[in-house]
Amino acid sequence: KIPLPRRIFGTQRKNSLGLNLESINTLQILSKKMKVMLSATVVNPEPDDERSQAIYNPADPDDIVGYYWLAKRHDCHHAFDASREAWKTWRFSDVEDRATLLETTAKLYEESYEELILIAMREAGKTLNNALSEVREAVDFLRYYANQARQLFEPTSLPGVTGEENSLHLEGKGPVLCISPWNFPLAIFTGQVSAALAAGNTVIAKPSTFTPLIASKAIELFHKAGFPQQVVQVLTAKAKTVESTILNESALRAVMFTGSSLAARQINRKIAERDGPIIPVIAETGGQNAMIVDSSALTEQVTRDIVQSAFDSAGQRCSALRILFIQEDVKEKTLETLTGYLDTYQLGDPLDWETDIGPVIDAKSCSDLLMHIERFKQQGRVLYQGTIPESKGHFVPPTIIELEDINELYEEVFGPVLHVISFKAEEIDQIIDQINQTGFGLTLGVHSRINQFCETVARRAQVGNIYINRNMIGATVGSQPFGGQDLSGTGPKAGGPHYLLRLANEKTISVNT
Ligand code: SER
Repeated sequence: KIPLPRRIFGTQRKNSLGLNLESINTLQILSKKMKVMLSATVVNPEPDDERSQAIYNPADPDDIVGYYWLAKRHDCHHAFDASREAWKTWRFSDVEDRATLLETTAKLYEESYEELILIAMREAGKTLNNALSEVREAVDFLRYYANQARQLFEPTSLPGVTGEENSLHLEGKGPVLCISPWNFPLAIFTGQVSAALAAGNTVIAKPSTFTPLIASKAIELFHKAGFPQQVVQVLTAKAKTVESTILNESALRAVMFTGSSLAARQINRKIAERDGPIIPVIAETGGQNAMIVDSSALTEQVTRDIVQSAFDSAGQRCSALRILFIQEDVKEKTLETLTGYLDTYQLGDPLDWETDIGPVIDAKSCSDLLMHIERFKQQGRVLYQGTIPESKGHFVPPTIIELEDINELYEEVFGPVLHVISFKAEEIDQIIDQINQTGFGLTLGVHSRINQFCETVARRAQVGNIYINRNMIGATVGSQPFGGQDLSGTGPKAGGPHYLLRLANEKTISVNT
């Protein structure tokens, strides 16, 4: 009998796929031998040993999860040519057909969920619960954008004078480049691709080189559902190869990007400099996310929400809590409960069902995070540090660091590290100003039983997603459209009603009857 994970950790939707533990166990055993060989691009099917790259499990660097072929410049050109060619007929596709294909893809994702979660666990170090949420979110994106397209892409009649009929039509723009990150290798990848397809575009999807296997599997399912090969392609290439080829193409019509602010700026600059039209860049970037807890908040609830917000997914979410502002009267009590709670959490290999927190993605992230912790340790400001398992995996212990000022953090610390700053009641305005002045604006948490306090903070904060008296991660598609402002992103919000509009051209037809 396989034990259930001790607790559901992460989003609030629990296991809505109907987790079949028995077949997961079978797959777990099979997965030890699993080698996923997938081609770099659909237009370059010939294997080429020299270009074959191994993917290592972040929890166990001796475990090779699979191989992929690294696409080169000529593959990028080839893929783009195919996308441009496919657009010539795909542009006349019917919105109902596209929506139906996306729904068929959603069904195939659900049917393949065991394989998808296993790849996510081994390739990205996701825990079982995180991997399940990931598949659920991807399926939600597929269905949500299918429905959105049906609603938005129906021609709209517009008013006109007698003898004149006016209508507004939405159409795809052309080839779209989707660049997605490793931290949500299926959900964000699928969200971008499905939105671009729903809006009637052709797609070249470039996943992170840390997570090409799950992306390739996903594209296989899009094709199985009936999307033509050239309409949606996966390109497992390095960022700089794609940037120096596809970004220069004058027929490119939009770029969807999730990653660092620095990379987003670079993409924007390249797009601006090339010949051709000015095109949208939808960027979803980082955050310096805070939670404000006042003395009226309920300690138990706050503790649970802090732990989930800061340490779920080993802190590798752009929404994750980085800086906890806690009113000084309750600081000690809250930290005591928090550290006691963290002591019960297990850091380890996600394929061990007892694991609550998995590894970080690679050796470099691991050493950067450990160096960050060490810097504060030397100053005696580490308030808590969990234990690391004896393993070669890339493990960073859950850590709590005391800060005096928000400006002590120069950049996003993308891992299981929580920073704490205490405040006095009269300093609240100043704190909101400081949070706004970071220049980022992604997520913010507020915990208080005083409604007016919550409302004031929510009104003044310049962020995209505000969570009151709950955790601040795991935005639900359609209910909590996700994305920030300023250094955190351009908008529109993913999983929201305005997203597809940025990916479409508008056409007005006026007929003199
Ligand atoms: N969408 C994710 C969340 O809400 C973050 O990328 O946690």
